[in-house]
Amino acid sequence: MAKIDWDALRERARDAMTRAYAPYSGYSVGAAALVDDGRVVEGCNVENAAYGVTLCAECGLVSSLVAGGGGRLVAFTCVDARGATIMPCGRCRQLLWEHGGPELLVDTPRGTAPMTEVLPQAFGPHDLEVVEEFYEEEAQP
Ligand code: THU
Repeated sequence: MAKIDWDALRERARDAMTRAYAPYSGYSVGAAALVDDGRVVEGCNVENAAYGVTLCAECGLVSSLVAGGGGRLVAFTCVDARGATIMPCGRCRQLLWEHGGPELLVDTPRGTAPMTEVLPQAFGPHDLEVVEEFYEEEAQP
């Protein structure tokens, strides 16, 4: 895969951030990611009068990835209203792990880092598979 254009990705995230719906917190977030087929997917936070229903920018991004045909996330960034890079929240790190795995590169205020650093010892699909295999072996006569 060609070199990642982080500046272009951040610009896409800033653009998405301008469309955030954040009337309750007043904290707009925009996210953008490069997909392994070259596509760029975006998302912004969408809040709700029932505060807990709020969708983070990453939720919209992952929804767009899957609805657009799926694929693996290669590089991810999210920004605040100043356009500055922020860290994805804990729940969204888990969300990103599922669709990018250990190699996904994440933009952080301290530079880019792989998901293995952003979400160490992550729980993921593999944990489900090993238990499924355990049951299958147990069921064998
Ligand atoms: N938010 C995101 O969209 N992504 C994150 O990773 C951190 C938090 C949103 C949720 C809420 O609308 C606002 O930021 C303040 O928490």
